[in-house]
Amino acid sequence: MSELTWRRRHIISLADFTPQDYELVMQTALSFQEVLSRRNKKVPTLQGKVVANLFFESSTRTRNSFELAAKRLSADVLNFSPSTSSLTKGETILDTARTFLAMGTDIMVIRHQAAGVPDAIAQDMDALGGKVAVLNAGDGKHEHPSQALLDLFTLVSYLNASNPTASEIKGKKIAIVGDIMHSRVARSNLWSLITNGADVHLAAPPTLLPPEFASYGAKIHYSLAPALEDADFVMTLRLQTERMSQNLIPSLREYHAQFGITRDRLAKCSPHVQVLHPGPVNRGVEISSDLMDDPRLSLIERQVTNGVAIRMGLLFLIGSSSLDKF
Ligand code: NCD
Repeated sequence: MSELTWRRRHIISLADFTPQDYELVMQTALSFQEVLSRRNKKVPTLQGKVVANLFFESSTRTRNSFELAAKRLSADVLNFSPSTSSLTKGETILDTARTFLAMGTDIMVIRHQAAGVPDAIAQDMDALGGKVAVLNAGDGKHEHPSQALLDLFTLVSYLNASNPTASEIKGKKIAIVGDIMHSRVARSNLWSLITNGADVHLAAPPTLLPPEFASYGAKIHYSLAPALEDADFVMTLRLQTERMSQNLIPSLREYHAQFGITRDRLAKCSPHVQVLHPGPVNRGVEISSDLMDDPRLSLIERQVTNGVAIRMGLLFLIGSSSLDKF
């Protein structure tokens, strides 16, 4: 494929991802995108390996996307959901993970409402001397690496479908709009987009955008217009009301009036602007319903489709036997 090599057992955060890491993930996803365009979409890459999806928090796209990715790679897939598990009998999270280890799990894909849980499980697995790889599928407000990587793949393959290198994003203006404070998607995207040289602008009401976000290297705006001006891409984010401990916006209507992305507002952007959203969407709040469904302006469906190729790539990279030497 290329001389780039993969050197990680776990994927917990994008904070220390190098430009080479991003390139390798993009190249690997491109090859799985090709696999997914075939009539027979299944390859034997992870035959005999066990992938456990440990989702302690609810999810539609991410969980099903990981499940489909693992199945397309011919892995055996175990799914876990907290309400029907022994967690309800008082078992700890680490004991749950150790149970899956004892069954021979090779890769654990973990989502949890608290930041740090995937990392804690990864450390426990390492301490036990196993070769289990842990992939963070979203932990609290911390990170969501596979989402940011599928976002990057969606952006660069929009710019150059046949050769979607991470460096395609260099110099492009990207506006990230919405509930940045509570968003693990925003944090992972900041690492990814800034490392790959994008010009990142954040826009939200001050209650949803703490000034320390400037430390990532992004520009901060408390109104929409300067962020949208000449933007090549607009990434919208859901208002995460389940993570808000107090009223941080006057009302959903008011929020939409000030920060909602609509067709009219895109007039300020670059003429080829495209809109993204990680889902789930509050239709008519972060983004107007008609815009969300317009294939000429929205990459939202492509994000979901690309999620499978990216996750096949990530499972392949951390699950291939060459990693046993680490
Ligand atoms: C995001 C998440 O769970 O962090 N969704 C996703 O994974 N597709 C964003 C969100 O919940 O708003």
